[in-house]
Amino acid sequence: MTTYVVTGGAGFIGSCLVRALLAQGDGAVRVIDNLLTGSEKNLEEVRSRIDLQRVDIRDYDAVAGAVRGADVVFHLAAIPSVPRSIDSPALSHEVNIDGTFNVLRASAESKVRRVVYSGSSSAYGDTEVLPKVETMAPRPKSPYAVQKLTGEYYASVFHSCFGLETVSLRFFNVYGERQDPSSPYSGVISVFMRALIERRSPTIFGDGEQTRDWTYVEDVAALCLKAASAGGVAGKMYNAGNGERCSLNRVWELLQKIEGVSLPAKYGAPREGDVRDSQADCTAVRRDLRHQPQYTVEQGLRRTLAWYRAQ
Ligand code: UD1
Repeated sequence: MTTYVVTGGAGFIGSCLVRALLAQGDGAVRVIDNLLTGSEKNLEEVRSRIDLQRVDIRDYDAVAGAVRGADVVFHLAAIPSVPRSIDSPALSHEVNIDGTFNVLRASAESKVRRVVYSGSSSAYGDTEVLPKVETMAPRPKSPYAVQKLTGEYYASVFHSCFGLETVSLRFFNVYGERQDPSSPYSGVISVFMRALIERRSPTIFGDGEQTRDWTYVEDVAALCLKAASAGGVAGKMYNAGNGERCSLNRVWELLQKIEGVSLPAKYGAPREGDVRDSQADCTAVRRDLRHQPQYTVEQGLRRTLAWYRAQ
């Protein structure tokens, strides 16, 4: 039987991946999480079917114990958020770079078959050309972007120097069920969802014409599963996006239309470290991982909104 470890498995994306693994039904699922930004509540109805270990990835010995015997490690534990990495660069560095090193080192020593690493589209920074292709030179604009990029480089080097199979996926603005709207660093879609339900106007930083490739969390989880087993992809990095881009203004318009309300947004100063436009080229991921996202932005937003309404 295959043993899967999901670091950050009590988080927003990790808990969706845990459910996808359980639905696939071919192995045991172990979650390691320090419950800093994740929560046991995210795993509520599947809690009895997983082994949840409260481990901080900054603690090498604890990580080594937790990945022992694993076949596949999905490394999703991180301190996300561009602005948080500007406010607390040391904390995000320790978790995102040192923690990632610990997970890779422990996986190599435990002879894990494959590690799937969650990178970030922020690594591209502002590129002159859209969509963004894996072959473009990275231009990180924030500590977070540097940290996530460093993890990719480490993943690739653990493959070339230590023979550990690694695959990096650059996530593009993931949204969906269980994204926590309650922190000042929350992803914007979760903030929009809460504002919509509470009938408040959200604050958009800048003119709202910045674009993102909004990617539904279930599509990301499905891609992680493919990355765990596909052949010929070890040591490589792929975009994990939807392949489209849509402005913040447009997303807020769409949400008001779906909900049948009119709540004009407020506008604030642009945010430091923000990338202007983001869109994934999905050619390589389609070719090598046979991945095709299943949800348009409108479909994903409708599903997500239904979940927030039910809370
Ligand atoms: C970035 C990365 C993404 C990564 C994420 C982790 C890019 C292009 N994307 O997302 O891959 O997964 O960090 O956190 O770098 N905003 C508002 N009002 C709010 C909150 C945010 O207008 O209340 C704006 C931001 O200024 C930004 C956009 O919404 O322009 C998206 O912000 P956010 O959801 O934080 O994600 P990114 O920083 O784009």
